[in-house]
Amino acid sequence: MHDTTDLQIPSAAAVAAKTRGPLLRRFSDADAMVAALRPSYPVFCLRPHVLAESARRFIDGFPGDVMYAVKCNPHPAVLHHLFEAGIKHYDTASLTEIAQVREAHPLAEAYFMHPVKSRAALLSASKVYDVRHYVIDHADELSKILESVVRRDIAVLVRLSTPPGNALFELSDKFGATPDDAAGLLQAVHAAGLETGLAFHVGSQCGEPRAWRTAMDIAARVIGAAGVPIRYLDVGGGFPASYSNHAVPPLEDFFAVIAEGLKAMPIGPDCAVMCEPGRAMVADSMSLVTQVQLRKDKALYINDGIFHSMSESAVAGVKLPARLIRPESAPATATADFTIFGPTCDSTDLLPHTVALPADAREGDWIEFGQIGAYSNAMATRFNGFSSETFVSVDSPAFLPQ
Ligand SMILES: Cc1ncc(COP(=O)(O)O)c(C=O)c1O
Repeated sequence: MHDTTDLQIPSAAAVAAKTRGPLLRRFSDADAMVAALRPSYPVFCLRPHVLAESARRFIDGFPGDVMYAVKCNPHPAVLHHLFEAGIKHYDTASLTEIAQVREAHPLAEAYFMHPVKSRAALLSASKVYDVRHYVIDHADELSKILESVVRRDIAVLVRLSTPPGNALFELSDKFGATPDDAAGLLQAVHAAGLETGLAFHVGSQCGEPRAWRTAMDIAARVIGAAGVPIRYLDVGGGFPASYSNHAVPPLEDFFAVIAEGLKAMPIGPDCAVMCEPGRAMVADSMSLVTQVQLRKDKALYINDGIFHSMSESAVAGVKLPARLIRPESAPATATADFTIFGPTCDSTDLLPHTVALPADAREGDWIEFGQIGAYSNAMATRFNGFSSETFVSVDSPAFLPQ
């Protein structure tokens, strides 16, 4: 093991001087980007003002502190704009994510919220990056933390499993202690002299506000059974984006249900309430511009797909708004439904829904897909040698379903 004592977090001023924000080339909209670059590679169009609005909506509306789930979109420009918009807490799942947050923004707090961590990662998180919040769902993980981290003024949150809600992705199958075990773990954390917390995640893209109330009622019983002071209550992520084939209530309905649930929660004023949104924070802030490489009848072969930026479309059937871009001439006004194939040789590399586009769509046209900020670049593979790594910034409004 290397000695890390001489590794220091650089001062905020030093970092601020170095990172005034990732310099993305800026365009008025995706059309202007296409006209200028005529890209044969996929291009992500980030809308910083949409990110800022989304951060503000959470900060103003959520009854507690907002922690962004870095896994959802860890691009440095995304982290930069969220930090600038006032997001100071970050849910990180790995040492890489912790480093990314703490090195770019020393004033940001990284929370190590993966229930299973290596000893090496725990040591580095604690010693190099000064991480003070961890999560567990098993007693052995608590022992590991106690044996690995270098300080004792830390908080350990217990991840509670919750019943299936109306979520597209259930997360409690893999992580989370049962209510009985969670109460015992809270007592063990308290007995170890650490600050305690309780966390849950109702599942990603959860369209049902009452799922939070159900989970909070269970959390209240666990806190009552544990009988120890609770310093953190983390109601997780899972807040949905409004996809055209997954209509959901506005975020404010979710915040209202959570605020109501807090009234019945046996916690004191010194308990910090937190949420960990990923998807709802970033989904609408990015679009992806792809290019058509071949047309065969009603099938278009494009340069991005389910192994790259669109894996969620395949896994969850999320339908993204799409439009054709052809700078030099107007496309046909009549539309047709096209099958969209991705670039790899895998026959499963196609979008699960047909896409309505001008009937004369052809090779060389570009297609912009909206609502692609969540779990896109974060989950892309390099399969078949394709990768989507170009980001620009655009000033136009979010590209949402009509
Ligand atoms: C622990 C944890 N927190 C937060 C998130 C973010 O969830 P979402 O993007 O659904 O808001 C996830 C997603 O997997 C997660 O596992």
